Amino acid sequence: MANKIIAPSILAADFGNLQRDVEMVNKSEAEWFHIDIMDGVFVPNISYGMPVLKAITKHAKKTIDVHLMIVDPDRYIKEFARLGANNLTVHYEACTHLHRTLQAIKAEGMKAGVAINPHTNVDLLKDVIKDIDLVCVMSVNPGFGGQSFIENTYNKVQRLKEIILTNNAPTLIEVDGGVTDKNAAQLVKAGADVLVAGSFVFKAEDQLKTIKELKQLANT
Ligand code: DX5
Ligand code: ZN
Repeated sequence: MANKIIAPSILAADFGNLQRDVEMVNKSEAEWFHIDIMDGVFVPNISYGMPVLKAITKHAKKTIDVHLMIVDPDRYIKEFARLGANNLTVHYEACTHLHRTLQAIKAEGMKAGVAINPHTNVDLLKDVIKDIDLVCVMSVNPGFGGQSFIENTYNKVQRLKEIILTNNAPTLIEVDGGVTDKNAAQLVKAGADVLVAGSFVFKAEDQLKTIKELKQLANT
């Protein structure tokens, strides 16, 4: 079975000790840094922007997975590439010309991701699935960390996996929001390749051990 990836979400880190938390992820069994960028328009919250991303990438030694929860993401594609993003994920709901946006992300040498809100049907991605490197299935309404997992996510992941296999697409499935030791194994069983975890990792007393546990649950 392919290696299942753990992506700690820096949104839940201690920003007063950002370097320490980045180094913790470097040392851990997690493979990706998940970076949530919110604009206060697409979602009702503002997280952090370019200067903080720069501070993270200065110390991060793993894949930088940027999740844009912003309107009109096309405006910033080049800037995120310049700042070292490896994956750039835009929201389906924020893109009028999604196919064009995906090509623009790839033209900058990044992997192209599409995130879908809980109400967005995965079948809407069928016609572009071969162009998507990563689908981020939101298992909470985007905007905040620490929310409860929406159970219907299992069905969505399962259906998305079918679409990917039918189309022989190379797309990875990422699940984002409310991921814990209670749902990790079942999500992987449904077809998830990447598990994002914010609060579950950073609120834990032993963060390295928590990542190790998630990694084990995802790979058994
Ligand atoms: C929510 C973000 C998530 C968030 C996950 O809008 O996209 O990445 O940080 O946090 P938890 O794991 O606490 O739900
Ligand atoms: Zn996210």
